[in-house]
Amino acid sequence: TCNSTPVETAKKYFEIFPKEKDPLWRNPCEDSRHLEIWSSKKSCSKLPQLVVVGPQKTGTTALYSFLSLHPYIRSNLPSEKTFEELQFFSGPNYNNGLDWYMKYFPGGKNNSDQYRFEKSATYFDSPYAATRVHALLPTAKIIAILTNPANRSYSWYQHMKVHEDKAALNHSFYEVITAGSDSGRSVKSLQKRCLEPGKYATHLYRWLKYFPKQILIIDGNQLRDDPVSVMSKVQRFIGIQPRLDYKHFLRYDSRKGFFCIIKRKGKSECLGKSKGRIYPPMEPRAVEYLNLYYRQHNLQLHSLLENYGLTVPDWLVKDLARPP
Ligand code: A3P
Repeated sequence: TCNSTPVETAKKYFEIFPKEKDPLWRNPCEDSRHLEIWSSKKSCSKLPQLVVVGPQKTGTTALYSFLSLHPYIRSNLPSEKTFEELQFFSGPNYNNGLDWYMKYFPGGKNNSDQYRFEKSATYFDSPYAATRVHALLPTAKIIAILTNPANRSYSWYQHMKVHEDKAALNHSFYEVITAGSDSGRSVKSLQKRCLEPGKYATHLYRWLKYFPKQILIIDGNQLRDDPVSVMSKVQRFIGIQPRLDYKHFLRYDSRKGFFCIIKRKGKSECLGKSKGRIYPPMEPRAVEYLNLYYRQHNLQLHSLLENYGLTVPDWLVKDLARPP
């Protein structure tokens, strides 16, 4: 009513439309009425055209830094709290709103020659991210990187161990992945982060529903072993011009055991210590357990990729060729 304060009106509104308490940010430039009332300082040319969605531990940082080598490709500016990842669409940052998100992208109206991208590895398995990315960035291109889910899981365990996670320090990987429902909270939570993101078909399906023709799936093993070919695929996919030949920018570094960026005077710059860690191979019983655990998920992934006409990664072909 006319006598209500804005807060009272808002309360009433949300009583009538409780679902709208959760915002869904849409592209402000889609509606001319909105553009008319928007500040002239704001611009949709601050939104990214590409989102690298993860999942974690598949080589997302390598792709992020290789993309950033291109003079016309710009990542988001780093955030104080989450560093290179904004983690906007998957968590509490979403409630900070569009101005918060846009402030991390460089330039404005005059910066249309820059191709902007964002990488947050937490998006892939988030139940909300695909819907939210689609609402705000319906024409964006999406990249997901897939590696063998068992290896991804082990890499996450190693990551948490280095970060002194109690469950990872006190339990072997095998104990974590096989822990029953009566185990402690910290073990169960680590188990979940080890296992859930690797159910690729379930998560990928959410993205394909919204972006059936705008997704590139990268084979994480190929990104690790032949990033030069992967980067030409990526550049074709996003349609950037001119295309760089990454063989002039990347080189295998035998000390690191991974491809690194070529710097002046023949030096190379590798990703930090936390990427490409050295740890013992997985115990055979863990390999066996995970092969069985992921079998159905991997079969589903295979059909999903085929149904959508997407390339099936080599590791998946090999994995499914093994007798169960
Ligand atoms: P490990 O450290 O377990 O070997 P993310 O950046 O998504 O967290 O992924 C980390 C993983 O990227 C590493 O896992 C490593 O295997 C992989 N990777 C792929 N290419 C790499 C590169 N050029 N340098 C370092 N790590 C790379």
